[in-house]
Amino acid sequence: MTQSLSSPRTSKQPILTLQQHILQEQKRFPGASGEFSWLLSGITLATKMIQAQVRRAGLTDILGAAGETNVQGELQQKLDVYADEVLMHCLGVRESIGVLASEENEHPLILRAGSPDAKYAVVFDPLDGSSNIDVNGGVGTIFSIMKRPNDESASDPLKWLLQPGTQQVAAGYVVYSSSTMLVYSVGNGAHGFTLDPAIGAYVLSHENIRMPKVGKYYSVNEGNRDSFPPAYSRFLDRLRKGDFGHPYSSRYIGSLVPDFHRTMLKGGIFLYPPTADHPQGKLRLLYEANPIAFIAEQAGGIATNGQGRILDIHPESIHQRTPLIVGSETEMRELARCVAEPR
Ligand code: AHG
Ligand code: MN
Ligand code: MN
Repeated sequence: MTQSLSSPRTSKQPILTLQQHILQEQKRFPGASGEFSWLLSGITLATKMIQAQVRRAGLTDILGAAGETNVQGELQQKLDVYADEVLMHCLGVRESIGVLASEENEHPLILRAGSPDAKYAVVFDPLDGSSNIDVNGGVGTIFSIMKRPNDESASDPLKWLLQPGTQQVAAGYVVYSSSTMLVYSVGNGAHGFTLDPAIGAYVLSHENIRMPKVGKYYSVNEGNRDSFPPAYSRFLDRLRKGDFGHPYSSRYIGSLVPDFHRTMLKGGIFLYPPTADHPQGKLRLLYEANPIAFIAEQAGGIATNGQGRILDIHPESIHQRTPLIVGSETEMRELARCVAEPR
């Protein structure tokens, strides 16, 4: 049964766990054995272990900086390192995975790219929104799954990762906030599962999420306002003045996952435009923008880099950055109109 709105399910409906849902979805992949659901179960196990630490971060020695900087030049938080290690461990034992890549590691981990059983590459942001950990703010995990290329490029493990976002076979995120919720898609709609701590299972709570066609929130780091390109300033000025037909409220957590999750459920727009510090954009294409764009489009939303569709970008490096603007049809159309106007 597919609910038309992304409202939480009523108690009358049967409990459907994520594992059951994945098995149902897997039937859509002819010839797929249990390997895909086995792969996804590695991600769900890891996120349950991560959430257990996130929930207790103030009680254990898991807060604060780990003392190292990652390839991004960012000070790694202990929880970043823990989340990365847990995902690497849980996914490393999945035989169907040939290549693993993470925000936290400069180079991909080539597990078994030569093996005939290795069919997938997984790339992830193990802990998104690290700056919010110490202040108990919402954080997330983001993942993207691609298939081994079916041409000679498969001999280069890097090429398994450097595919446009349209090639993703699955993508998802987990938001660790007032509850822990996983949203994923295998290309057949986007579905939300809330972790029930009493049974330790992700239970279907938001089937076939549809992003509203217009929202009342916009989400952007206003601190960067003076360095946005002119079209973004024009757009934000019009939005704030009510030119799009109604007033908006500003919401910005500073973690992509909860900021996007609100946009997914309530509509509106999230923007990380080019800035003086990040003229190519701050967010990473492979493990932030692509999976978020895949999920957004599955829910009827739109995701661009300001010029074109995120999912059409051909990546050149695994940590490549991009501007990311993602949201409802209405606001995205108004932004495109501002971008198209002569400077
Ligand atoms: P990460 O913690 O994985 O490095 O991601 C942080 C990102 C993203 O979560 C968020 O949208 C953005 O950084 C916030 O950047 P600003 O603090 O510059 O607004
Ligand atoms: Mn991130
Ligand atoms: Mn991160």
